[in-house]
Amino acid sequence: MKAAFLISALGLAQSAIATSNAGPYNSVYNQYCGNGQSRGTITVGRSVFSYVCDTGNNAISKGPVPAASLEACADLCNNDGGCDQAVWFRDNGNCWTGITGSPITISGQIAITRDRNATPNQCQTVAPVCNNASTRQVTEVNGQGWFLACGTRFGVIRPNQTGKTNSLESCIETCNQRPGCRSVMWNRNDKYCYVGERNGLEGEVTRSGSIDSAIKIQ
Ligand SMILES: *[C@@H]1O[C@H](CO)[C@@H](O)[C@H](O)[C@H]1NC(C)=O
Ligand SMILES: *[C@@H]1O[C@H](CO)[C@@H](O)[C@H](O)[C@H]1NC(C)=O
Repeated sequence: MKAAFLISALGLAQSAIATSNAGPYNSVYNQYCGNGQSRGTITVGRSVFSYVCDTGNNAISKGPVPAASLEACADLCNNDGGCDQAVWFRDNGNCWTGITGSPITISGQIAITRDRNATPNQCQTVAPVCNNASTRQVTEVNGQGWFLACGTRFGVIRPNQTGKTNSLESCIETCNQRPGCRSVMWNRNDKYCYVGERNGLEGEVTRSGSIDSAIKIQ
């Protein structure tokens, strides 16, 4: 009896904790700081901001202004000429811009800082590998930028089949070497590589369990 009571009391305590942390902005916070992630970069417009999780600032000045996401907060800062630093708070979705102080540890806050050295339009690139069929990201093969569309096939009319390659990366490199080549499809199952002059996204696009595609960024 006693043990059972203790267990249920403990269960109650745990759910009380879970409830007090559950807010509308938790999932937003987790997008940037979930799974043990402690920092990262976001790009808004032509500006790059680095962010640090669970960090506030000791000299919060302007605000707060409601911002539904960290990007929205960075956007507010970006559109405020004098703003290089801002803080967003998970607990209430508030954004403070134009701060000038020093970082301090505050759970649930995310401090963002403009990175003036980052090249505008710089994208975070991923490896030219499709581990996740939902990946839509920018990658690079031998210095050439490519937009990766994993688990997708283009309706490009008669792409040229170039034989088998051992990876999507080699298939992309095959295209890199061909003048006028702009898109590739690679079949993960049979390893065949297809290349084409067209921007594959202009044609019909369908989901595919075995085909990954990429379009050259020009
Ligand atoms: C794949 O990517 C999607 C979209 O980014 C994400 O929601 C999903 O959790 C990812 N799956 C795996 C297994 O990483
Ligand atoms: C595809 O094949 C045609 C005909 O052989 C050729 O003219 C064209 O350059 C090839 N395109 C690519 C991207 O390899």
